[in-house]
Amino acid sequence: MASKSWKLRRLVNPNRANPLKFSISRPSQALQTKRSFAASPQSPPTDPSRVLQPPPPQPLSHPSQEAASSGPGVTRGRISSSLNESELRKFSAIAETWWDSEGPYKPLHSMNPTRVAFIRSTLCRHFGKDPHSARPLEGLKIVDVGCGGGILSEPLTRMGATVTGVDAIDKNINIARLHAESDPATSSIEYCCTTAEKLVEEQRTFDVVIALEIIEHVADPAEFCKSLAFLTNANGATLISTINRSMRSYATAIVAAEYILNWLPKGTHEWSRFLTPEELVLILNRASISVEEMAGFVYNPLTGRWTLSDDLSVNFIAFGTKNSG
Ligand SMILES: C[S@@+](CC[C@H](N)C(=O)[O-])C[C@H]1O[C@@H](n2cnc3c(N)ncnc32)[C@H](O)[C@@H]1O
Repeated sequence: MASKSWKLRRLVNPNRANPLKFSISRPSQALQTKRSFAASPQSPPTDPSRVLQPPPPQPLSHPSQEAASSGPGVTRGRISSSLNESELRKFSAIAETWWDSEGPYKPLHSMNPTRVAFIRSTLCRHFGKDPHSARPLEGLKIVDVGCGGGILSEPLTRMGATVTGVDAIDKNINIARLHAESDPATSSIEYCCTTAEKLVEEQRTFDVVIALEIIEHVADPAEFCKSLAFLTNANGATLISTINRSMRSYATAIVAAEYILNWLPKGTHEWSRFLTPEELVLILNRASISVEEMAGFVYNPLTGRWTLSDDLSVNFIAFGTKNSG
């Protein structure tokens, strides 16, 4: 079982018969012991004794049952809030621009087809659905956590999923709702101004939990992942995308995107809040989610397009499944 969760498959082309396989435990990407996810650039481990083995998945008990259990990896009582007020202020300030494909969300708009392709491929494979059908996600209940203006929720709905989009900012939800209502194909989306942990309190569960480009903005990534795990049905799937804490991401996602190309307002991202792929795998594993596939998103400045890649050094996405038991 351990090898299964550490064999991370990558989908370059959803139509490929044999997607490339790689193991994340290759030396340059081995996990390093850290007291916290401190703001240090990635460096290869020098002392093998510092390389962590993935911990055995911890069974999570629902917070409503936690008065009676407080094992490792389980928070007694309520899950802590994911809200980070200073991060939220940044999103509130640009809420009106969600559907301006040349505005601050330009990178998300241009990346969207590529991330949708990865999501469709992984979900169809996991749930045994035909990725070539008109509505490949028919029958799946999906929550899009931190949905913003709905630029992911809408294509998921068009692919047949029953989608709930949640975001902590009211203005985002209003914009998402207005936009979705303008098209009968997306008007069924349920949008709520709420958080993952509040959905957990309401005991909501979903076949698929998606949280794209949000984990680097929440108060506590590990607690946030626990909430995502609670929201995921047994044998369901969880997808998270974020930005690696690497030297390349500092140069591209911060210096270039915020200070040279002016794609994003300055200060949108704090490099120290980024997680490496190894850290994300570790905290998901501790939350009972086994990461099975990962892919990088790579931008080609000549074409203005993003492609899937095994280069996880900047933008990357992880697909995991909930451990049963
Ligand atoms: C960079 S945007 C990503 C939007 C969307 N997931 C996408 O990739 O297209 C991050 C979004 O997460 C929301 N957000 C940040 N912290 C949140 C939290 N703790 N709970 C819910 N939403 C949050 C922000 O309001 C913002 O809309």
